[in-house]
Amino acid sequence: MSVEPAPTDSSRHESGLRARIMEMPASRIREVSDAAMGVPGVIALWFGEPDTPTPKFICDAAAEAMFSGDTFYTPNRGIPELRAALAKYNSKLYGADIAADRVTVTASGMSAMMLAKQLLVDEGDNIVCPTPQWPNVRGTIDVLGGVQKPVPLNFSENGWSLDLDQLFDAVDGRSRAIFVNSPGNPTGWMMPREQQKALLDFARERGLWVVADEVYARVVYDQPHAPSFLEHASPEDRLIIVNSFSKPWSMTGWRLGWLVTPPELGNRLEMLNEFNVAGATTFVQRGGVAALEQGDAFIAEQVARWGKNRDIIYNRLHANPKIRVARPEGAFYAFFSVEGLTDSLKFCKDLVREAKVGLAPGIAFGEQGEGWLRACFASSPERLNTALDRLESYIE
Ligand SMILES: Cc1ncc(COP(=O)(O)O)c(C=O)c1O
Repeated sequence: MSVEPAPTDSSRHESGLRARIMEMPASRIREVSDAAMGVPGVIALWFGEPDTPTPKFICDAAAEAMFSGDTFYTPNRGIPELRAALAKYNSKLYGADIAADRVTVTASGMSAMMLAKQLLVDEGDNIVCPTPQWPNVRGTIDVLGGVQKPVPLNFSENGWSLDLDQLFDAVDGRSRAIFVNSPGNPTGWMMPREQQKALLDFARERGLWVVADEVYARVVYDQPHAPSFLEHASPEDRLIIVNSFSKPWSMTGWRLGWLVTPPELGNRLEMLNEFNVAGATTFVQRGGVAALEQGDAFIAEQVARWGKNRDIIYNRLHANPKIRVARPEGAFYAFFSVEGLTDSLKFCKDLVREAKVGLAPGIAFGEQGEGWLRACFASSPERLNTALDRLESYIE
């Protein structure tokens, strides 16, 4: 049998593996946490996850399913009960009719995002995206040989904002989609409804796809939920919603998420999900049903706590003359700059060793993030206040 010779072009690493993968930089946030190895008493605010374990009623539902033998493969798009519960949840939350044939269960929001990119990105294609942005948004494009086209969000003390004309101007012949994460990680920016409508109109005119990462939709402080593209879109619109159980129901370790797409994408996603994970874990999906059906009070409690933390961190950072910060509208991050800071990675490594506070360096979120720092405030008020005491004395 003849074997195809390995490609010898420059896209190959000397190991024979894809250069694109072998040369990808390591996570900058991870670099900071590595620098803290062996340093006792660090208050780590670098990762983005809730500070409480999953509530018992969700664990019980999953355990019960596991012990009763719910341990086999599931359909690639998820168990019918979870898809129906997701359709109901999204329909009720957004006052829209979202049918179950538009819903695909995924093994995490991360996997949902990768699936969306696999549907869209060929070598050399680009995805236009407001930045600073969560690094994995770009990572999933890079893996596929595409390019992220950044459009900087504008900072003011009154909040972050997006210039839609600038976003539209960034679209070119190789743009396949506009990716919007709102509420946004790391800035806490929230896209207003009017902008969502205008973006959908633009996408319709151009035949472009919109990928909306709404994983922080329930983590908002001044209204019940963030505006969603689902409020304005019809089922046929070229819209892909990425969402996850991780943040609202404290389920980061469960790896459960979902996509809402036009119904026609169903069989493609069924196939793609097969090649990625072949369906999310069976009993985990039963936990997901419980979360959707009984989880509203838990979310309200979490958000009330985090809302108090938001006040603590925002008020203290804002009062510091060396710091610039806007009050985050959603998610659980304070994103702030410090006077004179030009190398956020070095700053974070020094800070964690010398002051025992762990922050994420702004450069992790793209070039536009340099000079900025991210702190996750899903923590206790005591830890936050101690971390802020340490940070304030460090930058004095
Ligand atoms: C903006 C954004 N999207 C998606 C995710 C993925 O969440 P998960 O893979 O835990 O569902 C995260 C997690 O931090 C995130 O911040």
